[in-house]
Amino acid sequence: MSNRYLRQLSQISIINFAVFFLVLLILATVQNKQAPIVKRKVRQVTVPTIRDIFGELHMHNMRSDCWIALEGHIYNVSTYFGSHPGGDQELEKYCGKDATQAFQTQDDQGKDHSPDAYAQLQQFLIQ
Ligand code: HEM
Repeated sequence: MSNRYLRQLSQISIINFAVFFLVLLILATVQNKQAPIVKRKVRQVTVPTIRDIFGELHMHNMRSDCWIALEGHIYNVSTYFGSHPGGDQELEKYCGKDATQAFQTQDDQGKDHSPDAYAQLQQFLIQ
């Protein structure tokens, strides 16, 4: 075998190898495109916690932290002390309690609070 022939042979094998790797590369790329790796997102399920606000009512039983329940709603009336025409004591008695009946009768006076009183109430609504 002549030197020239050997050189040609090795050149051909190098080219062959190159082509082989190129084909491999192309195949790998094509396969990658066909079957992309699906990265599954782990779904974070957050369970909504319903704050048991009615269960908390009894804890807010002082002037500085006064919640009252009225007709199925909770109001934080802490800042109304000093402004209640019926006096602070009337309010304080019901901190942490359901005051529906007392509110509707102005503490057994037999008359409901005025529409204005109901309107004022809305600013204190928690839930
Ligand atoms: C917690 C239970 C409550 C009781 C037992 C109560 C009781 C009373 C009473 C006895 C009066 C009459 C005062 C008088 O005639 O001299 C009165 C008046 C009044 N209260 Fe209350 N009250 C309560 C809560 C509230 C709240 C939460 C508000 C408003 C945010 C409010 C607003 C008013 C207003 C505006 C008046 C003047 C009269 C009227 O507009 O109805 N009260 N309240």
